[in-house]
Amino acid sequence: MSAEVPDARRSAPATLNNRGPIGDILLPLLPSSGLVLEIASGTGEHAVHFARRAPHLVFQPSDPSPYARASIAAWIAAEGLANVREPLALDASAETWPVGKVDAVVCINMIHISPWEATEGLMRGAGARLPPDGILFTYGAYLRDGVPTAPSNIAFDLDLKRQDPRFGLRPLAEVAACASRHGLVLARVVEMPANNLSLVFRKVMDVSPGAAPVP
Ligand SMILES: C[S@@+](CC[C@H](N)C(=O)[O-])C[C@H]1O[C@@H](n2cnc3c(N)ncnc32)[C@H](O)[C@@H]1O
Repeated sequence: MSAEVPDARRSAPATLNNRGPIGDILLPLLPSSGLVLEIASGTGEHAVHFARRAPHLVFQPSDPSPYARASIAAWIAAEGLANVREPLALDASAETWPVGKVDAVVCINMIHISPWEATEGLMRGAGARLPPDGILFTYGAYLRDGVPTAPSNIAFDLDLKRQDPRFGLRPLAEVAACASRHGLVLARVVEMPANNLSLVFRKVMDVSPGAAPVP
């Protein structure tokens, strides 16, 4: 859910609520310099928030939606931030991405609101672009073996599947298995407010199987 403000900027109440707690987990994990690629940037509010808090890093937002990209560009202009690049048109499921090597990848609230191919593409693309030990950070709601799913997440899952039967909360084990096929190991799981999780994956190989290395 997002609302329009007087220009192309859009604002999502959930994003305004979660960007602080996400930043508290994410930002200390990022390198001391370099390029952070954000997949599925949506309104752009996460990118500008993180960029403001981490002026030593450069952020590259992206989204396949032209409406999202217009909002992201408007937020960058309104905030006057020099360390956020113009948004890229990037579909995570595409075989090729319009960006080369990056130092970290961030993807918030996409895995459950996209077909599984987007998650496979996210792991393939991140695995091919990250340096050894580089991180892929994801945030969202997941299903966990042995952990009862919160009633609010069961309702959310049903709602997502009503929107598109290809959507829905993913089992954490399947996401981790997919990541490992691309040289990314699930290093940390952090419980977040509102029954969400932050996941931290680390690149453990120079060349991931099934993913073409990027120059
Ligand atoms: C619920 S929004 C989340 C936006 C933002 N990350 C946030 O948390 O506020 C989901 C976003 O995923 C994007 N998306 C959907 N499918 C995608 C794909 N295959 N590759 C990249 N982004 C995708 C949508 O365009 C949308 O901006």
